[in-house]
Amino acid sequence: MPTSSLNIPPEKLPRHVAMIMDGNGRWALSRGLPRLAGHKAGTENLRRVIRSTVEFGVKYLTIYAFSTENWGRPLEEVRGLMSILEDVLDKELAELHAEGVQLRHIGRLERLSPKLQKKVLEAIELTKNNDRLVLNVAFNYGGRDEIVHAIQKIIRDGIPAEQVTDELVSQYLYTAGVPDPDLIIRTSGELRVSNFLIWQAAYSEWYVTPTYWPDFDQEEYRRALEAFAQRDRRFGKVSSKEFEASNA
Ligand code: IPE
Ligand code: IPE
Ligand code: MG
Repeated sequence: MPTSSLNIPPEKLPRHVAMIMDGNGRWALSRGLPRLAGHKAGTENLRRVIRSTVEFGVKYLTIYAFSTENWGRPLEEVRGLMSILEDVLDKELAELHAEGVQLRHIGRLERLSPKLQKKVLEAIELTKNNDRLVLNVAFNYGGRDEIVHAIQKIIRDGIPAEQVTDELVSQYLYTAGVPDPDLIIRTSGELRVSNFLIWQAAYSEWYVTPTYWPDFDQEEYRRALEAFAQRDRRFGKVSSKEFEASNA
């Protein structure tokens, strides 16, 4: 059986998977390597994870690549992370496009160099009609920053208070038009949100693994999806089985 075959019915497959790709630094440290070597290995792994996502048939993937707080890291590491994004766009874009991946960006572009901003916008434009997988890249992204940005825009658009609803707020987020994540995977064992999709994750299922991101392979990805398929998502209600029993 190829590892990519999933042992779950299609209706139990998450539509949208989001990933906090954490643990690159510790992966490197444990090998006596500089942190940037961990980020490079993490980027290699991301290629494999994107490929697996397409194979598994998941339609939306959101990856947390650089947070609004990551600017506080040493300058050399910040520069390294910027150049990794640039490298990925230079070297991987053609293949992603050929595979039918639609690239999107969530977060603020303003603080990136003009050259990098241009490359991101060109990648979005090139891939905008692809529909095999929507890949949201969270880069210079923060959940609080996203909500602040949305509120500012709602006010600027002169929306009256009584028209501000859940749905309206969702439409003003960077993720407008993307369904909320069904499953959020965090590698490296940390039990926190770290400012990721704090609005959208209201009813997401979580899967946390101690594995460092560069080692998160297809087999473990498959296990995460299979664990998700076993969950009983109640959304604050009672399970459908109990509901049927109580109405019988
Ligand atoms: C995640 O790995 C990647 C980014 C935040 C860019 P880390 O760099 O946070 O790795 P650890 O948590 O220090 O091991
Ligand atoms: C979250 O990881 C951000 C990314 C994976 C890009 P961090 O390593 O920055 O989060 P904390 O500092 O452990 O909360
Ligand atoms: Mg970390």
